[in-house]
Amino acid sequence: NIPVIAIDGPSASGKGTVAERVAATLGFHFLDSGALYRLTALSAMKHGVALDDEAGVAALAVKLPASFRDGAVWLAEENVTDAIRAEAVGDGASKVAALPAVRAALLDRQRAYRQAPGLVADGRDMGTVVFPDAVAKVFLTASAEARAERRYKQLIEKGNSANLAALVADMQARDARDTARAVAPLKPAADALLLDTTHMGIETAVQKVLAHYDL
Ligand code: CDP
Repeated sequence: NIPVIAIDGPSASGKGTVAERVAATLGFHFLDSGALYRLTALSAMKHGVALDDEAGVAALAVKLPASFRDGAVWLAEENVTDAIRAEAVGDGASKVAALPAVRAALLDRQRAYRQAPGLVADGRDMGTVVFPDAVAKVFLTASAEARAERRYKQLIEKGNSANLAALVADMQARDARDTARAVAPLKPAADALLLDTTHMGIETAVQKVLAHYDL
């Protein structure tokens, strides 16, 4: 059975960076499941499909021409690495992520990333729905302020403009939607290790995840 490390948590909790470093340390594959929801939202926007058109968005999700190669994210032949990080796309991702048919459409695709020697999967429902048999499950949290500041720094570093107050509002709306939805709501798996990273550096979080995996 190929080992999976499931890392879930709310927006900008540090899970992406932590998951990538854990994967690199172990030589495991890495799945950014949020990118698949972001790609689905971007694809719907490009095709003029309404974000609440469940059948329409699910049809796009099933045949999403998504790939991760050369350190970039691709939608067919278009490099959308930066485009999918826009706040509007994150917001759209959380809207399409609330649609059961869309989640179902992406399920097998996510599981296909489970390849030897192992997988580190980052998302909202990795430990609860997609990989319930993961050998190690971690739920990362941080205060809303700490998370908004991290997202702010990320955006500024990439040369985008950002407004801290707007980010806090946007993040709270997204977290509320992710937590309240009927399917695969954002919540820790019963057997997850809870890690609050508000006052924790990335490297410490990485070490704690690796230690949890080793047990
Ligand atoms: O970068 P950030 O942590 O803000 O978000 P993300 O991980 O890229 O995910 C974007 C959105 O996709 C989230 O707000 C969720 O609504 C949705 N998502 C999900 O429902 N299930 C997942 N496994 C991953 C993301």
